[in-house]
Parts: sequence; structure tokens; C-alpha cells
Amino acid sequence: MILDATCGFKSTWFDKENEKTVFLDHRKLQPFVCSDMRNWAVLPTVQAKWQHLPFRDDVFTCVYFDPPHIISKANPKMRMAVKYGTLDPWTWRDTIKKAFKEFMRVLKPTGILVLKWNETSKSLDEFLKCSPLKPLFGTPTKHNSRHQTWFVVFQNNVFNSEKSKLEITLGGKQSQ
Ligand SMILES: C[S@@+](CC[C@H](N)C(=O)[O-])C[C@H]1O[C@@H](n2cnc3c(N)ncnc32)[C@H](O)[C@@H]1O
Repeated sequence: MILDATCGFKSTWFDKENEKTVFLDHRKLQPFVCSDMRNWAVLPTVQAKWQHLPFRDDVFTCVYFDPPHIISKANPKMRMAVKYGTLDPWTWRDTIKKAFKEFMRVLKPTGILVLKWNETSKSLDEFLKCSPLKPLFGTPTKHNSRHQTWFVVFQNNVFNSEKSKLEITLGGKQSQ
């Protein structure tokens, strides 16, 4: 199973009804006209916050995380803020740290986390300080853009977590 932890309008999905995916968002917005879009909507299958995911441990093979990239007080006049939400300037670090912790919990030990981050408010390096996982690889979408959007891939902490050590040991041989 895949978890889209910030589904919003699902604009990055080829199949917005993908059956193997749980689409989660803390907002629910019925279709409305949002300046350039007629049917902007946020209709998650699960409405919850990423800080408290209503799932058991070790259930997802992949988590997709595309948090709001504007760090500012919510402003209803800001189109991007209405569409994508904002992160609070005082609490965003703590919120993102909690998100990573929850993703590691619900991901299988070898699960993959895909992060999308735009550098409008904070650089990728600054954002990654909130992550206990080291990224494997990543790429900016446009090399000449002023505010880069990055796709970054992590693998859950296979060899450091107690649960994976146990799994590896129980499997017979001790892997390195
Ligand atoms: C950048 S948008 C995601 C856009 C989406 N990936 C798309 O393709 O349309 C970020 C989303 O994160 C959601 N969000 C913000 N804080 C959240 C939280 N604490 N828990 C769950 N969702 C949250 C917002 O409601 C918003 O829809």
C-alpha cells in the first residue's frame, strides 16, 4: 500500500483514483473555483494530520510527502496558500519532525519515502535538518529556476531500527 500523506488536489497523480493508495490530507474542500481552476477540491479518503497517522506500524511500502512550501501565517488572499496551505513560521520544524517520525513508523523497514519540496521559503538543506533519515538521491525539477522544486528519495532506516534488526536476525543470517 502507498500513503499520499498530503494529497491536496492530487495534481501530481497520473491515476487520481489509484486503488493501492490511501489519500490523506487534514483539509477537506468540496470543489470550488480557485482563480485559475474551476474544480479545485481536496477530497482525501482519510482526513487526518500527518503528526498523528491513524494507521498501524509497518503497513506502507511507499509514503509520498508534498508539504506546503510556503512558511507564513495563513493568508486567505494568497492564492497559493488557499490552494496548498501553509506551514506555521513558529512551529513548522516541530511539525515536520513529527511527520518524519510518523512516516518511519508506518513505513515497512525497507519502505521508501518520496519528498517534494520547493525552496520558496526555505532551502532544501534547511528543510532536511528536520529529517532523521539521510536522503538517498534527489533532483531539482528545473535547474535554472529561482525557487527550485526538488524530488528526494529516502529509504526507511533499515539497519538502525530495532524492528528491522529483529527481522534480519529472525531471517536466519545476520545481514550487514
Ligand atoms: C503542497 S499541497 C499538496 C499538493 C498535492 N500533492 C497535489 O498534487 O495537488 C500540501 C497539502 O498538505 C496538506 N497539509 C498541511 N498540513 C498538513 C498536516 N499537518 N497533515 C496533513 N495534511 C496537511 C494541505 O492541506 C495541502 O493540501
